Amino acid sequence: MRLTNKFMMTAVCALIITVSACSDNDEPPVVPGENDYSEEYYAGGRNGTVFIKSSFAYKQAMPVIEEDPELYRQFMRGERLADKSFVASEDMAYSGLGPVYIRKSCIACHPSYGGHSQRVDKYDSNDSRCGYLLMIYKPDEPGLPLASKYFTGMTQTRAVSPFKPPVDESGITIEWKNHTDEYENKYEDGTSYSLIYPVVSIAQDAILFEDFDMSRHAASIEATIGIYGTGLLDAISDEDLRAQYQAEQTRGYCKGVIGADIDETGLNPYFPGKHPGRFTYLCTRATLDNGPGANALWNITNVTRNDRRYHYITEEYAKVMSKDAGVQQGLGKTEDEIFTHLMSRELAPEMTMEDYNAFMVWHRGLAVPAARNLDDPAVQRGKTLFSETGCTACHRPSWTTRSNYTPLPAISNQKIYPYTDLLRHDLEMKEPGRVQLCRTTPLWGRGLMQIVSGHTDRLHDLRARNTEEAILWHGGEAKKCKEAFRKMSKEDRDALVKFLDAI
Ligand code: HEC
Ligand code: HEC
Repeated sequence: MRLTNKFMMTAVCALIITVSACSDNDEPPVVPGENDYSEEYYAGGRNGTVFIKSSFAYKQAMPVIEEDPELYRQFMRGERLADKSFVASEDMAYSGLGPVYIRKSCIACHPSYGGHSQRVDKYDSNDSRCGYLLMIYKPDEPGLPLASKYFTGMTQTRAVSPFKPPVDESGITIEWKNHTDEYENKYEDGTSYSLIYPVVSIAQDAILFEDFDMSRHAASIEATIGIYGTGLLDAISDEDLRAQYQAEQTRGYCKGVIGADIDETGLNPYFPGKHPGRFTYLCTRATLDNGPGANALWNITNVTRNDRRYHYITEEYAKVMSKDAGVQQGLGKTEDEIFTHLMSRELAPEMTMEDYNAFMVWHRGLAVPAARNLDDPAVQRGKTLFSETGCTACHRPSWTTRSNYTPLPAISNQKIYPYTDLLRHDLEMKEPGRVQLCRTTPLWGRGLMQIVSGHTDRLHDLRARNTEEAILWHGGEAKKCKEAFRKMSKEDRDALVKFLDAI
């Protein structure tokens, strides 16, 4: 399906409204004319791209969703589930929060669903800038979420009274340290740069479990990636992903670790069987239907639904809480009753499957904003540098989605430009936390972060304060790229950044 004139008119009208409502965006909107734009502008393919660059750029429905009234209705219903804060009170809209949880909504961590959340000095889940997930892990097994009897893989720091959180946020410290690289933080032309990285610690007395020894564990923070376009990444075939992995192995330039083949039989209605991981920094998730968003709706909030009639909770937490006199008194229940409730596998569903299905239409249907200014000579120069410097070895510019993407057929056969190989690499960063082997982050649309979110923080823990610093953190498998960048003239460095801001 092609963008119709009718759609363009609606898009233009919507733009005029949103742009005028948004004072921080005084540039004119990009409006495609007939055949004016080369295919690279359609970052999300012809059917998955929207031409908008206001602060609403990451929240748009794909044209194919907007053109179908029923899909659009579901998209809007799904959007509300992502936007609204869930509440603990029963029998209200959006009820079911808790007993223990991480945040109340998606938007609490994924501002405007796109780009990254913001770098902060304090882990405060009430701070709307703080989209960090806290992870507690064993230093010798950083790749694994803590397979511990104490904590869930993503650490919970909130609870509905009288329950208590496993970790008291006031005991979490984020310290930003300066890093000096092997070039004394200088470009070859003598210009200086500065680099910082986070060190996270948790005080022993902030931990609910008395017999848990924090000094033998480590903590790290991981930032949001971006939700838009993940439907299109889901539509890339497993065969193409495996072929990319093989090609990188053969070339030897990148180790290109593939995500584990994850057995999803029974969990994914569309593609049963095993799939290579492609979502999250560690590629721990393989399909959208068993992906970070579908899971988050349940495990971030602990809102139960028909396919998840149990809590995201550890047995140890259930034990400690059920023995707690304050909890027993607050609920007027015995230890056994509390424990049985917390560990039950047959809780009443708090969300309907209609709501969940609508949520997945929204999730799959979030469009990618079109590229901008690609014809600018500096951007063209940056594009040449991006490829000559070897960035494309990992930031693979384009993919074509599979021919039979059943969950949303209209996004089959789309040429998309996410600039990622969806594989994991070791950039040998200073103290990367759990994320030493990190998936190449998609670069599409990120140039709009300043407009949408008011900052340019990047990388898995937001240690980079802008695109330039993100490149300067590339070592290990990408060390040659960093060296080449260091040797570039200021003009070329700026051109490369300008290209990255344009895609
Ligand atoms: C506590 C903050 C937080 C909340 C709330 C949250 N997320 Fe995330 N999300 C993250 C972080 C951090 C990552 C990256 C984590 C990783 O790679 O392990 C992420 C990753 C994702 C990704 C993967 C993107 C990719 O390219 O791989 C998707 C999709 C996603 N989240 C969707 C959602 C949805 C939908 C919701 C609401 C139901 C939600 N998230 C709620 C923090 C959060
Ligand atoms: C060996 C593979 C590899 C190569 C080569 C590579 N990158 Fe990356 N890139 C990554 C990985 C992995 C990440 C995510 C790292 C993280 O978040 O800790 C990343 C992240 C980025 C980011 C930040 C994305 C975000 O939003 O957090 C930018 C910008 C970037 N790369 C640009 C470049 C440029 C420009 C080049 C060439 C000069 C390049 N990369 C070469 C693997 C690579």
